[in-house]
Amino acid sequence: MTQERVRIVPSVLPADFSRLGAECAHLEEAGVDRIQWDVMDGVFVPNLTMGPDIIASCRKDTSLGFEAHLMIQDPENSLSRYIDAGCEIIIVHVEATRHLHRTLGQIRSLGAKAAVALNPSTPISEVENVVDLIDLLLIMTVNPGFGGQKYIKTMEPKIRSAKELITKSGFDIELEVDGGISSATISGAASSGANTLVAGSGLFNHPEGLRAATAELRKLATEALS
Ligand code: DX5
Repeated sequence: MTQERVRIVPSVLPADFSRLGAECAHLEEAGVDRIQWDVMDGVFVPNLTMGPDIIASCRKDTSLGFEAHLMIQDPENSLSRYIDAGCEIIIVHVEATRHLHRTLGQIRSLGAKAAVALNPSTPISEVENVVDLIDLLLIMTVNPGFGGQKYIKTMEPKIRSAKELITKSGFDIELEVDGGISSATISGAASSGANTLVAGSGLFNHPEGLRAATAELRKLATEALS
């Protein structure tokens, strides 16, 4: 079986918000694969972070791809704002949009890759009728809203079910996991089938810095996937 390519994607949530552009450049130097912007509206989740204008202001500071993790209610109302800000992947929560099939189609028609995220309590069955419309499936291993939370290990059977759904579908869909990913937890997520791992505190709080943290997480995930 060909070795699945591991992607390490930092969440900017723990970054220094007073210098996000420089932080993006630093992440690129550290060897990450893409950058995830955790957009929160204070309604869908009990926290408020950044919007499209802040993301757009950092676009010039890195050549890395941007993904917008929209933890916002009714994301269909602002899709083009995040695409115009420079995000190539738009992640919406199945719990936050009334017409998921239509929303995913809108993202693709706007020229971006469509992705859907599932909160811990949301079953995989919620996306089985839209696998033809997604480029990435995100399994949350924390309840969204804050960084630095504990990895929910009971999500690993769900990650395995997601992998089975993707394999059976025959579509080229990235399986991403986000929440509490660190050197201590990444092997469990990767061995369950995740090939893209999002980390915030597990990267930014690593004692040896971002480059060493990125290399260590990549090594652990690659070993777990092989
Ligand atoms: C939760 C956020 C976090 C963030 C990563 O709403 O989505 O999961 O990306 O934060 P850590 O890696 O610190 O859990």
